[in-house]
Amino acid sequence: MEPILEGPVEVRSHLGPDDERSLADDVLDGLTRPLKELPPKHLYDARGSELFDAICELPEYYQTRTERLILEAHAQDIVRRTGAVELVELGSGSATKTRVLLDAMAAAGTLARYIPVDVSATTVHAVAELFADEYPGLSVFGLVADFERHLERLPEPVGPRLVPFLGGTIGNFPPGSRRRFLRSLGKVLGPDGYLLLGTDLVKDPRVIEAAYNDSAGVTAQFNLNVLHVLNRELGADFDVDAFEHVAFFDREREWIEMRLRATQPQHVRIDALDLEIDFAAREELRTEISAKFTLDGLRADLDAAGLELVELFTDPNELFAVSLARVAG
Ligand code: SAH
Ligand code: TRP
Repeated sequence: MEPILEGPVEVRSHLGPDDERSLADDVLDGLTRPLKELPPKHLYDARGSELFDAICELPEYYQTRTERLILEAHAQDIVRRTGAVELVELGSGSATKTRVLLDAMAAAGTLARYIPVDVSATTVHAVAELFADEYPGLSVFGLVADFERHLERLPEPVGPRLVPFLGGTIGNFPPGSRRRFLRSLGKVLGPDGYLLLGTDLVKDPRVIEAAYNDSAGVTAQFNLNVLHVLNRELGADFDVDAFEHVAFFDREREWIEMRLRATQPQHVRIDALDLEIDFAAREELRTEISAKFTLDGLRADLDAAGLELVELFTDPNELFAVSLARVAG
């Protein structure tokens, strides 16, 4: 049997009582708007993260397997080009595709550190333990944190850094915030770091809509789960069965919109906020957008964020793109 040399593993959480506050603030702000809305990060409690993993395995959800194929085809090249010794992964989730990058770094003999960053504490802990076990000598520093607020808490780089931001999660930002967020990554990258950005591409709307309306109903459960989060964390009394999942592609804006629709009039009380809200029959609550990109749009976003596109990889059907970018010189 091979000896298991466990690298040091540490997980730090920057989410605490303040962040229950942040959920409460988001809910107060979002549910009292004329068009009700919630930020998507609250979809990912332990159950939500599990459901998202199930989504990634669905036949209709082409994104995960396509992005994995692109990474498998180009990981060696990416590692050679970047000389990366550490990965700082944003919204790492269960990091199944990250293995492709870690393997390529291990093969090149450059793998030193892995830093998963996610609001989902369960996934950060699980991934930290798993990868410390699987990659002898790897140092793992997990951050349970909000990548919109806590990026200045990252440790100093130990060498050239690669920052994977996969799964099309960048598409969950509305266009203005997306560029602002990309710009904020400049500091995380530093002068010799690279961003590895996964983006879903514009394509036949039927293909996109099917990916968010799977026949097994897993996406619906995932979307509805956010109401369970509010019931549990904020003492709300949403009747979850009285809402239905809606996802449609907005052709003008080139994004998919996820909503929850009240099937009948609802009166909801949220104890922690001392708030009462009403839903009319068929009223909708927006839970997420997921932007789909054109190659030109992607270039324009990177450019506007002070980033320079170094290389763009896609699959033969141009379903998905993975791009390598760095701070513009
Ligand atoms: N990278 C994985 C998971 C993508 S799902 C993949 O490609 O399959 C999006 C992930 O981002 C989830 O794990 C979610 O918990 C995390 N996330 C969403 N908003 C976040 C935020 N504001 N800060 C940190 N993590 C966030
Ligand atoms: N980031 C994923 C995406 O945009 C999240 C996602 C997939 C999602 N299916 C969903 C979010 C359904 C809400 C509802 O593809």
